[in-house]
Amino acid sequence: MCGIIGYIGNKEAMPILLQGLRRLEYRGYDSAGIAILNDQETRDKIQIQRIRAVGKIDALADKLKNKDKEMKGTIGIAHTRWATHGGVTEENAHPHFACDGKLIIAHNGIIENYRQLKEHLGAKHSFKSETDTEVLAHLIESHYDGDLRRAVEKALMHTRGTYGLVVMHADHPDKIVAARLGSPLVVGIGDGEYYVASDAAPLLAYTKKVAFLNDGEIAEISRSGFETFNLRDESVTKCVEEIEWNEEKAQKQGYDDFMLKEIFDQPVVYEDAIRGRIDLEEGTAHLGGLDMSDAEMRSVNRIILIACGTALHAAMAGKYAFERLSGIPTEVDVASEFRYRDPIIDNKTLVFAISQSGETFDTLAALREAKRKGAFTRGIVNVIGSTIARETDGGTYIHAGPELAVASTKAYTNMVAILLLYAVQFGRLRHMTVATGQRLVRALMEIPEKMQVILKKSEEIKKLAGKYSGYHDFLFLARGINFPVASEGSLKLKEISYIHSEAYPAGEMKHGVNALLSPEFPVLAIMTKNQLYEKMRSNIEEVRARKSKVILLASEGDAEAQSLADDIIYVPQTMELLEPLLNTIPLQLFAYHMAVILGKDVDRPRNLAKSVTVE
Ligand code: F6R
Repeated sequence: MCGIIGYIGNKEAMPILLQGLRRLEYRGYDSAGIAILNDQETRDKIQIQRIRAVGKIDALADKLKNKDKEMKGTIGIAHTRWATHGGVTEENAHPHFACDGKLIIAHNGIIENYRQLKEHLGAKHSFKSETDTEVLAHLIESHYDGDLRRAVEKALMHTRGTYGLVVMHADHPDKIVAARLGSPLVVGIGDGEYYVASDAAPLLAYTKKVAFLNDGEIAEISRSGFETFNLRDESVTKCVEEIEWNEEKAQKQGYDDFMLKEIFDQPVVYEDAIRGRIDLEEGTAHLGGLDMSDAEMRSVNRIILIACGTALHAAMAGKYAFERLSGIPTEVDVASEFRYRDPIIDNKTLVFAISQSGETFDTLAALREAKRKGAFTRGIVNVIGSTIARETDGGTYIHAGPELAVASTKAYTNMVAILLLYAVQFGRLRHMTVATGQRLVRALMEIPEKMQVILKKSEEIKKLAGKYSGYHDFLFLARGINFPVASEGSLKLKEISYIHSEAYPAGEMKHGVNALLSPEFPVLAIMTKNQLYEKMRSNIEEVRARKSKVILLASEGDAEAQSLADDIIYVPQTMELLEPLLNTIPLQLFAYHMAVILGKDVDRPRNLAKSVTVE
């Protein structure tokens, strides 16, 4: 996720763009840049000036001080970056020029086939950054013959992936071209002036009139209006809407809280996590950042997953996948315990440090300990360039985009996705057949659609949360691959609604926890159709016999489950190892709605921080 803003009108563009970037900073904040087309009559040659800076928008603002003359102009584009391809450097910051210094682009999204495109463009183009976006700039340039919009359209026909982009060209001082596929863009309509941005937040200070671009649409924006086309160059009529959101609501894209927005982001960011990493033909995954030869991967005889909190629950799900798919013994370690327990590690051990922030102190310390003892160390991290990402010998970014709510949701899903891809990749280098690999990757590709089915149940789950909001204790019960899901559901409920809850593997109940069962202690049980279905069924019968209320998570079509439940949430079926990708979402929604009903500050729960950088 990055933030884009463009302006064309009759005012100085620079202050508008800078202000816009501040409103968009929540979407990405590792570097930023502004480009202004200097269209003043006093200049004999129209040209584009660009200034970029690593760090927050303040760093860019510092560089722009006293640059009013240089950056003079009434048309410009700007970008705040959340890195995906290429490190956090000024060279990689947007906007990016093509070769001739006339065409410039800012982009949000991932161009999957940028390597092939770069190869195809060949030595005629010289690249200054490591980004997929710069390749797109050169690709558009290669199609340019005087018509900027057509050049963008033609170039986009050759890309695979997602984009929200804005393009300017020095030969067109009266035009910004914007295009969208998968990454939102909205056009703001003023009086003789137009804006284009990743969301409405930066536009609200100037206008409430907007037109949202749909996927596959291109807009040509000038001072006198804007026209919209599809990629076949056919004109598309847009309706102009009046939005009533305030800035905060616009940043949350209309959702009441960042947590809810991030829960609903999951189908899209999940696709970002798997995009370009799946090989359907070979039934495998390719996670380039692993940076291990096939021989090294085959030499691994033990995997250790270290993490804290929600990342730990993702790791627990990953253990099942690694052991079942690759046959490699896999341990999960609470990072804060790992470093103090003399872990047995050698140069055949692969240690993954899993962390959304990449800064969690205990995870970092555990990683350093593993490195000291000679393990291969790899990161599974969200924040690009974070300490864990830098200190591991390689690894994979989960591409969940900035996660702003303290309670982690979309990062968890993407961590599980990456662990599954690794497990498939390791499995295929060992005994897994191509057919099994293909079944798995196909099932992974079907997940976003199934996530959408669950998200549509948000209102139903809200009613359920209302019904149970008077209880003070909850038990989350599951077996096998769903035990990590139950643990995550329980953590979510605790941390944002402050209700006491526990997660237990259902087989352990008889060894103590049954004593707690009573009508005052509702049980949320996961009984989806997998190999432990019958076992789970018996456990739920036991719970019912002790008069606890049962909320059941069951597979769509399981009519029998009704008889075991006081309330039931149906979820689509998937392959057993993939269940955490789906089954966690209703539990996130349950916790969210519960916290809202109880009047809690969902995004900023008491006593908790987003990034725990102390021991
Ligand atoms: C729970 C939550 C925390 C984090 C934990 C690790 O919703 O957000 O439990 O998962 O603090 O943080 P990262 O993943 O940044 O290492």
